[in-house]
Order: sequence, then C-alpha cells, then structure tokens
Amino acid sequence: MTTPLPPKTLIAVVGTGAMGAGIAQVAAAAGHPVKLLDNRPGAAEKAVEGIRAQFARLAEKGKMSAEAAQAAGARLIPVEQLADLADAGLVTEAIVENLEAKQKLYVDLEGIVGPDCIFGTNTSSISVTAIGAALQRPERLAGLHFFNPAPLMALVEIVSGLATDCRVAETLFATAAAWGKTPVHAKSTPGFIVNRVARPYYAEALRQLHEGIADVATIDAIMREAGGFRMGPFELMDMIGLDVNFAVTNSVWNAFFNDPRFTPSLIQQEYVAAGWYGRKNGRGFYDYRPAASKPEASSAAAQPVPPSIVLHGTSPLAEALAKRLTDRAVPFTRLPNTTGGFVAAAGNACLYVTDGRSATRRASETGVANTIVVDLASDYATTPRLAMASAASCSSATTELAIGLLQAAGIAVSCVKDAPGLPLMRTLAMLANEASDAVNQGVSDAAGIDTAMRLGVGYPRGPLAWAHEVGLSSIRTVLKNLGEGYGEDRYRISPLIEQQHFACTRHSS
Ligand SMILES: NC(=O)c1ccc[n+]([C@@H]2O[C@H](COP(=O)([O-])OP(=O)(O)OC[C@H]3O[C@@H](n4cnc5c(N)ncnc54)[C@H](O)[C@@H]3O)[C@@H](O)[C@H]2O)c1
Repeated sequence: MTTPLPPKTLIAVVGTGAMGAGIAQVAAAAGHPVKLLDNRPGAAEKAVEGIRAQFARLAEKGKMSAEAAQAAGARLIPVEQLADLADAGLVTEAIVENLEAKQKLYVDLEGIVGPDCIFGTNTSSISVTAIGAALQRPERLAGLHFFNPAPLMALVEIVSGLATDCRVAETLFATAAAWGKTPVHAKSTPGFIVNRVARPYYAEALRQLHEGIADVATIDAIMREAGGFRMGPFELMDMIGLDVNFAVTNSVWNAFFNDPRFTPSLIQQEYVAAGWYGRKNGRGFYDYRPAASKPEASSAAAQPVPPSIVLHGTSPLAEALAKRLTDRAVPFTRLPNTTGGFVAAAGNACLYVTDGRSATRRASETGVANTIVVDLASDYATTPRLAMASAASCSSATTELAIGLLQAAGIAVSCVKDAPGLPLMRTLAMLANEASDAVNQGVSDAAGIDTAMRLGVGYPRGPLAWAHEVGLSSIRTVLKNLGEGYGEDRYRISPLIEQQHFACTRHSS
C-alpha cells in the first residue's frame, strides 16, 4: 500500500478563497507546514487569520486542544510569490476555474519545485488531462477534489488524467485518508463522480416541474420524506445557486457532446434569466424575502377508511401496509399468494407500485381500469408520505378509496399528475443508471461511486446499493417504461443494468 506524504512534507496551497483556505486548514490540522499563496494582495494573510480563528473556535468547543490549535495555526505560512514554494512536496491549487490559468500556474511551478513534488488540482469541471497537457511531466498531476466546506466534507475525489502516474494518485489517496478524509479514485471524465451522477437528482425534478406533474414544495417533500434525502432538489438548487447549478449542468452536457441524458432544463434557464438564483439573492424556486412564507407540499384531504381493504402478495409495500394497518387497528384481509405487482385493493381501487408506466398506460395495457400507481419509498414501514397517481379511467371516488387506504396506514398522500414513473422511483432509476454508466466506463467502481454520493452530496444511500435493494430488474423496467413513455434517448438503459439484469435472470432460472 502506498504511504501518505509524511507530516513534515510542506504543502503549498495556491488560491486561498473558500476552497483553498479549507484545504490549508485540513493539511495544517493534520500536522503539515502549509504555505498559502494568492494573487490578490493580502488574501493569503487574511486566509491564515481566518483559519487560525477557526482553530481557536474548535479549541473553544473542545474539538481540539488549545495547544494543538496554537500549533496548527503556527504551521500556516502566507507567502507572496511562486518562488517561495520551491521546497513544497505537494502543491495543490484552488484558483479560478480556468484551464489556461491552472496550466500557467503549473508550467511556472515546474521550473521552481523539486522533481519529487506532486501537483493536485481542485478543479470541479476541467479535465485533469487537459491541465496536465501543458506540463513537461504531466504524470505528477492528479485531481485532489475537495467538497465545500473542505474541513467538514469527508469526500475527496482523487482524479487521474490520462498521463497521471498511478503512484501519484495512490499517494494523494493515502494522504487524503491520513488527513481524515474518505478518498475515492475517479477517472478524469466530465463531472468526475459526484457532479456527473448527481445530475438526475436535479434533472428529473426540473422535468416534472416543467410538465406540471407536481409543484416545487411537493416534489421536495416527496424526496425528503419518502426518499430520505436531506434536502429536496429545489431546496438544494436554491442553496447551491441556480446560476451555478445551471452552469454545471451545461458544462457536463457540453462535455458529453450534448448527450440528452444531461440536457439542461428550460425552466431552470428561465429562473436564471430572471436573476432568481436562490437563497443568495432572496429568490429562487422558493421566495426568501422577509414577508414570504414557504409553500406547503400538497397532501390529499382526509378520506374515510375504506370499508374493504385487501392486501395482495408479499412485496415490501404490502408487508409494510399490513404492519401499519395492524398497528392502527384497521381491519384488512391478506392474500399473500397474489403476484404481478398488485399490492392492494381498497374497494374497487387497485394499487400497484410504479413500474415506470403511467397509471393510464398501465390500465390500458392490463385492462384494470381502476389502476392507481404508488411511488417508491426508502422505507415503506416508516415513510410519512407517498406519491400516487390515478389512471384517467379512475373515478374520483376510486382515487379517494386509495387515498383512504394509505392515510389509514398513517401516510400523507401527494397525488401527482399521471406521467411515466413517479417522483422518487424515476429519480432513483436515473441516478442508478448514471452511476452504472460511470462504473461501466471505468470512472470508478460501484463502492467508490456509492461512497462518493453519500459523502459528497449526502445521499441517504448509494444509488447502486439502493437500486440493488429495489431490484435491478425493477429499475431496468422503470427505465424501459420511462424511455417508452417519453420516447427519448435520455432514458436509455446503461449496459451494466442490462447485463446484470440478464445475469440475474439466468442465475435464477
Ligand atoms: N466553491 C465550491 O463549492 C467548490 C467546490 C469544489 C471545487 N471548487 C473549485 O475550487 C477552485 C476554487 O474555488 P473557490 O470557490 O475557492 O473560489 P474563490 O473565488 O473563493 O477563490 C479563488 C481564489 O484564487 C485566487 N486566484 C485566482 N487566480 C489565481 C492565480 N492565478 N494565482 C493565485 N491565486 C489565484 C483568487 O484571488 C481567490 O482568492 C475552483 O477551481 C473551483 O471550481 C469549488
């Protein structure tokens, strides 16, 4: 196993804005002397002051001893010119996100540092290969991609360009681990892991908003309450900044030669054009101005408990409903031997877990006019909310029976417009699809991608582990039906999901 850079190694951080200061803090806390350089006069000194104040706060809170805080602060050295970095063992940059600027920095440094010095770049969107292309020795450069705020976020993507020496990537990996971070290897491809695999979280939400499937607050509530995500996609976009999020989507879309998987959203473009960037300027998908109140998610009005409830089969939803109804002393009958995705009947309402078909299409293909489709939940046993859609052939009385059943089990129901997939299921399917493609294209392995998504964007579960739990065959069916429903290449199935599905089918037959 490659060893980390020893703590005596001098680390140089160039660019001492939000990210650079955070990275310098992490390296100094880990015991390294750290030189900081910025081309804005006084910025490096200011960053050092800020980091020392951070260390003092951590000491006050008992998170580090006063001596350790003092010592870590003393290891920070602001400098004024590149020549001052000659003795660095690692130079890592967090300067402006511009290819020429990053290339120039390292070309200049090649003439200053020793032959063993390695280079890291914190770029989020520029090819590490392209930055390295300007260097005489591109093998010593790798992405050392921290997430914001660097002292708090555990994930570091270690990004190898075409020319990166694997020993350099391994040294950075071991060093990030020694600094208390969780590194994952990634190949230099657009968006690396997190900024690529996360795209569907925003894209599917924007798509649904654009099509009037549900409103902002309802989609967010479904993703938080049923999906277990910390923030709904619109809350998250408002926090990131719609301008930033839109620019990242555009950059990934362009870098993938306009692959429709990543096509940006017209509705998001409108918000950006309006200057509604989110929290930072008071208005985005939500209104943050003082007089504004946050809209509520739409929840169906209370319905009576249906006179007859029959639970079919042993799917996770049927099992959870049985337990939840029993706990609430609601009478029901169980028919455990039913197959074919039929979960429950409430009077004449027939409830199924979504397979990606709209309820209307499903009703027409199966001849079950009273079809109601229900969304995925992270855990049906505890979910406080579920999304639901009714076929056009359902009467409102039938829909009310289905609502009454779910409410009797203690679940708030968000009725959404009938469309292919339902909010959580289609989002998970597309996240897993993108993650599978990234694995298939050697960007990282499945464990690395799941770890990156949990730690980089705080997903409750890695999309691949989650998709396995739901069943790859179900995920594939959802994607196939989304593709048929929309007739778009956006929903094409990753070859890895296809292969694993067929491999599982063969094993089980
Ligand atoms: N902010 C984030 O959430 C985030 C997350 C991950 C990665 N990144 C990446 O990290 C890098 C820095 O981002 P940031 O948010 O810290 O930016 P920032 O604007 O806060 O800081 C950049 C700093 O670099 C300095 N600088 C610019 N060009 C320089 C040069 N040629 N030499 C020396 N100093 C220079 C600027 O004066 C500024 O202090 C970018 O590549 C960005 O894409 C940002």
